[in-house]
Amino acid sequence: MEYQNVLVGISGGIAVYKVCDLVSQLSKRNKNVKVIMTEHAAKFVGPVTFEALSHNPVAVQMFDEGTDPIPHITLAQWADVFILAPATANVIAKAVHGMADDLLSSTMLALTCPKIMCPAMNTHMLENPATVRNIAQAEKDGWNIVMPEYGHLACMESGKGRLPKTDVLLDAIEQAAAEHPLKGLHVLISAGPTQEALDPVRFLSNHSSGKQGYAIAKAAARMGAEVRLVSGPVALDRIDGVQTIPVKSARDMQQAVEENFDWADFIIMAAAVADYRPKQTAEQKIKKHEGSMMVEFVKNPDILAGLGAKKKNGQVLCGFAMETENLEKNARAKLESKNCDLLIANNLTTPGAGFQTDTNVVTMMKLDGNEQLPLLSKEELGCRILKEMMEIRKGK
Ligand code: C5P
Repeated sequence: MEYQNVLVGISGGIAVYKVCDLVSQLSKRNKNVKVIMTEHAAKFVGPVTFEALSHNPVAVQMFDEGTDPIPHITLAQWADVFILAPATANVIAKAVHGMADDLLSSTMLALTCPKIMCPAMNTHMLENPATVRNIAQAEKDGWNIVMPEYGHLACMESGKGRLPKTDVLLDAIEQAAAEHPLKGLHVLISAGPTQEALDPVRFLSNHSSGKQGYAIAKAAARMGAEVRLVSGPVALDRIDGVQTIPVKSARDMQQAVEENFDWADFIIMAAAVADYRPKQTAEQKIKKHEGSMMVEFVKNPDILAGLGAKKKNGQVLCGFAMETENLEKNARAKLESKNCDLLIANNLTTPGAGFQTDTNVVTMMKLDGNEQLPLLSKEELGCRILKEMMEIRKGK
């Protein structure tokens, strides 16, 4: 998705004057631009200048009278990409330590979009071990760092510390925004096995670990999507930023998936749903007795086929097929009968593929052909699947 909303954070250094050009260039490129300044930044160039260049009010104070009571959250949610330029030593230190004592630092703490930090300051301040440490930590925390250039500084020294030219900053924004290609999209994923109860202590299930579905959820969140993960019982940690909906049986899973279906743009059913369940679930523990025991099974609903039947224009549906024989034939039949746009097929007997592994080897099947993928980590595969779904969505 093309980014639109650029939030520019400005802290107080002489390079503030250069950011006028950045804001102007962004407006000329038809981006929506909003500016937050620190009080110190506003001493260098007045907010009115940025209001004129961005065509939006400029925020400085946390508690401006009569306006939004939570501007830091509203602005953070609005942004598709954030750039802190110039980033002073003080504001970098605040960002790294999670301080939130003014509007700019509070907003930075609430950001979920790609973010760029452009340190610009006196060489000695830049080379101070504290600043060096803080910039390195910011990078580890996910900031894209645009390092300053050499040249003449306002303190009349020559050295490293100048804010790079507007073109460099514009490129950095383009690059960072491309990290979140799924921003604004809703992704619904099912993962793990289901458990079909026989009595209060026993159930029918399978060897699914949930790793593939969880890896897709992680990849989708990293690519900027809003993610809901309907998960059967698994021994995996919840993923930050992903809404997990725990379920047990196939019928629970069906209900949870259907409740979230209309919300979703991409639907990826990676769960290993039990095809059958015991016809009756005994209320008390079944006692052992002489001789054999018969259990009658009834068919579970096919969740994916149900979704395929009511898929709306614009929704992209992906299923999984794990086979032990006739992979291509069986999987293609599922792609078509369940009305999927994409089917990820793997053979349980291929080394590196399957239930408990961290890798997978799959064939990606679309209506117009197959693509055999190499051995990939389950997260890399998640990324590939999501990118393929973006392509399919473009063609719809
Ligand atoms: O079990 P089968 O091989 O048909 O599974 C293929 C796909 O269908 C998988 O994406 C799985 O999550 C889904 N499925 C389902 N409901 C079932 C069985 C499978 O949604 N009852």
